[in-house]
Formats: sequence, structure tokens, C-alpha cells
Amino acid sequence: VGRLTTVLVADRERDLAEFKELAERRRVAAYEEFFSPTTDPCGRWLLDRIARPGNGRAVDVGCGPGTLLKELERRGWQALGVDLTESMLRRARARGSAANLILADAAALPLPDGVVQLVLMAFVAPHLADPDRAYREARRVLGPGGFLACATWRESHRSPFTGLAFEVIRRCCRLSAEALALLDELDDRARRLPAATADAGLTPRMVRHVDGERRFGDAEAWWRGLVAASIGLTGVLQPLSPRERRHVRAEFCAAAEAFRTGEGLRVPVAVTLLIAERT
Ligand SMILES: C[S@@+](CC[C@H](N)C(=O)[O-])C[C@H]1O[C@@H](n2cnc3c(N)ncnc32)[C@H](O)[C@@H]1O
Repeated sequence: VGRLTTVLVADRERDLAEFKELAERRRVAAYEEFFSPTTDPCGRWLLDRIARPGNGRAVDVGCGPGTLLKELERRGWQALGVDLTESMLRRARARGSAANLILADAAALPLPDGVVQLVLMAFVAPHLADPDRAYREARRVLGPGGFLACATWRESHRSPFTGLAFEVIRRCCRLSAEALALLDELDDRARRLPAATADAGLTPRMVRHVDGERRFGDAEAWWRGLVAASIGLTGVLQPLSPRERRHVRAEFCAAAEAFRTGEGLRVPVAVTLLIAERT
């Protein structure tokens, strides 16, 4: 019986690991389908504005599935990809990136001081435990004249594409003081990006607020895409009861109707793009 239990437990652990792996792969695929059509053009826009010095070295911090790493390579940068999520790094590898890919934290980059000419941080800020530390770390690894290029969503009320779900959760759930503080902090992070990079010792050279749009056939398609792809939203939904989650979904779909036009839902997207220099 003891041996049978051991085998069953081992089987269960293997099944769980496989299930988690499958769920992770699904999330990466969902990320690429839902977010990349919006996030990639922002990254390319930033890269268009940064001239590559001869033999330029770049690190893509929070490289995710590696679409922008490929873009860095295409432009001749020697690229390194850093991410905290193994499944994202696996996808970047599978994309055929020649870049070195490293599992590491933005707050502790495995690089000596002053060795890169570009740090790219595209849509990473909302996920960081300590963004200020990550900006200081970016400054540390940049050589003089190097650039930090950042993209992030604007506050939730300005950018409903990702923000509406958080607005609805704030309005219709009884959140803990801690969860509320985190939602406030995320909005504050978006507003403070230029100041935070300046505090880290970098000189802002360009800050642009860009407005765009995403279209969805209906609110359910928007909600399903968001829930499948967004790590941040999953984190906020997880502590809610199933009943609360159903309530949030219904309220989200009702609120989404405000964006209905004759051509389905047209949803505003607002992004801040920043380039700061290590002078
Ligand atoms: C929204 S995705 C952005 C991916 C990619 N930069 C893009 O623009 O498509 C955020 C990524 O940051 C990674 N990430 C989150 N916290 C991190 C940290 N502390 N250090 C490094 N990467 C982190 C996540 O695993 C995820 O791949």
C-alpha cells in the first residue's frame, strides 16, 4: 500500500506539473494573441527612435515571448532577454532567437556595470514588485550615453483596453485595503514613470502619450481574451469567490457596452512611451 501511495502521489504530482505547464503555454499563446498586436508596435516605435551604436548591446527586461527581442536582433543589436517566467523564455527560445535568454529579476540583472547601450522595458512596470529598484538597475547596467526605453499602459480610466476590468473590480467588489492600495499604486506608477526614471538617475529625453484603439466583436470576446492573457488581472481575480467573479464578468460586459458602435466595440488604448538617457 505504501508503494502504491508513493506511485499515485508521484503520478498526481506529474499530472499537476503537466497541467500547470499546459496552462502556462496557453497563457503565453493568449498573451501573443491578445496583447502583442498592441504592445509590439509600441516597442518598434521606441526602437525607431534609438540609433544603434556599432556593435550595440541591448537587454530586453521582461522580454516575455520574445517578439521584441527578435526585432532588436533584426536591427543589429546584440540582444539579451531577461524574464522571471520560464514559459515566456521557452517561447522566446522557440521563436528562434539567437539572443541569450536568462531567468532573472529586473531588480537584480545578471550583468556588470555599464555594459549595455540599451535597456528595453516594454509593459513590465505593472508587474514589478519594486519598479524604482528596476530603474536603478537599468541605470547601473547602462554605459554613459545609453538609453532606457519604456512603454506602459496609462491609468486605468484613460486606457480601458486593460483598465476597464480594474475599474469594474474596484467599483463592485469589497476589496481588502491591500488590494485597493495596489490598484491605486498601479495607476500612480503609470503617472510617475518619467519622475521615477529621473529619480533613478536617468535624464528623460522623450515622453509621449499615445492613444490607440482595439476592436472586439462583443464584450465576451474582450473579457475572455483579457482573462486568458493578463497575469495582473488573474492575480486580482484569484482571491474573489466564484460568485464575485461571475458578478465582475457581468458588470464588465455591461460597462463594455459603452464602447459599442455600428462596427462592434471600439475600445481606447492609452500608452506612455519614454526614452531616458544615462548621461
Ligand atoms: C506584459 S509582459 C511584457 C512582455 C514583453 N516585454 C512585451 O512587450 O510583449 C511582462 C513580462 O514581464 C515579466 N516579468 C514580470 N516581473 C518581472 C521581473 N521582476 N523581472 C523580470 N521579468 C518580469 C513577465 O514574466 C512577463 O513576461
